[in-house]
Amino acid sequence: MKVAGRMANIKPSATFAVKEKARALRAGGADVISFAVGEPDFDTPEHVRQAAIEAIQQGFTRYTAVSGIDELREAIAGELRGNYGLVYEPSDIVVSCGAKHSIYNLAQVLFDPGDEVLIPVPFWVSYPEIVRLADAVPVEVATREEDGFKLRPEALEGAITPKTRALILNSPSNPAGSVYTRRELEALAPILLRHKLVVISDDIYYRILFDDHEWTSVAMLGAELRRQTVIVNGVSKTYAMTGWRIGYLAAVGEIAGAVNRLQSQNTSNPNSIAQKAAVAALTGPQECVGRMVAEYDRRRQHMLTRLAAIPDLSITRPSGAFYMFVNASAYLGRSHQRKTMTGSVELASYLLDEAHLATVPGIAFGDDRCLRFSYALPMAQIDRGLDRLAGALARLG
Ligand SMILES: Cc1ncc(COP(=O)(O)O)c(C=O)c1O
Repeated sequence: MKVAGRMANIKPSATFAVKEKARALRAGGADVISFAVGEPDFDTPEHVRQAAIEAIQQGFTRYTAVSGIDELREAIAGELRGNYGLVYEPSDIVVSCGAKHSIYNLAQVLFDPGDEVLIPVPFWVSYPEIVRLADAVPVEVATREEDGFKLRPEALEGAITPKTRALILNSPSNPAGSVYTRRELEALAPILLRHKLVVISDDIYYRILFDDHEWTSVAMLGAELRRQTVIVNGVSKTYAMTGWRIGYLAAVGEIAGAVNRLQSQNTSNPNSIAQKAAVAALTGPQECVGRMVAEYDRRRQHMLTRLAAIPDLSITRPSGAFYMFVNASAYLGRSHQRKTMTGSVELASYLLDEAHLATVPGIAFGDDRCLRFSYALPMAQIDRGLDRLAGALARLG
């Protein structure tokens, strides 16, 4: 059967591809340690699971409003008031099947064919494909390692053309854990305003912050910029709820209405039971978040110390999320048993095949010099994994 032309340029998610290969090795009996995971290794908090059980027992199992139940959209409005200091009405909010779905919906309602969408490198793997699926054009914008992989005003300005419609900004970021300070965002603000760019602010890691970083989103920099910004967020990462598939967007103006119409013709409402669980996550006790973040921080510090002891790796200290984007370019060009490391894919394959260590090749995020390491795995595994990494890299000659 012929597949539509639009699928020709769409790549499968690279992170899922690595996971698949690691799973196959494990199925064959190999003891694979995976730094490739993109989700918390903690269980969903008990009170959240209980809320879902109660929802089932009370028969809360039917269709809901397309944009999500009032109770959840009110909880999200409360979250935005509390953590962003911004007032959104429940009617400005659409709940979808994960933040990924929110971003997909947004691309469909915002972009016309040929619109250019700026995506700072390194980027989350799905952005370019989601933009392409809307027949728009993803435009990669370079950042520098020495700037913590964050977008500078000159680079933003230089990438804008008459066709530029939007910028996707992700802080804390996947894959580098970069966090924009208020001052850094303020430096981008006049350019965003002058060119009337829509900002898609992907804030999915916003509660996972280290080193006393204060949370700031572009939407918080004044009324005008808020009108141009769509906030995307969700419960997946903060509450270890990746499988529940609840994400949302918030925007003043017509966007929520348009997304509602689109969603009414594809998924309809997100899962009713998961919506009740998300209410419990957002309105219930928050100590569980603090505990998880403290544990990520402990692992981050440990990873930083241990990676620094491995020769020729260049490490950028992450300030949020649970990833490190490590520049391993000094190992490119080196070989093992006549296999040469020509790029991040070859290096990641070598680590997986030779050391049973899964990482994600940086090329998937737009930077072939790097490998992405997640530290959403227990400390003992981190240690064993880094032993293997040091050994395997030392064997490259
Ligand atoms: C930057 C970023 N945005 C969005 C998502 C998707 O989150 P969700 O599970 O809510 O769809 C991810 C998940 O990996 C992510 O890393």
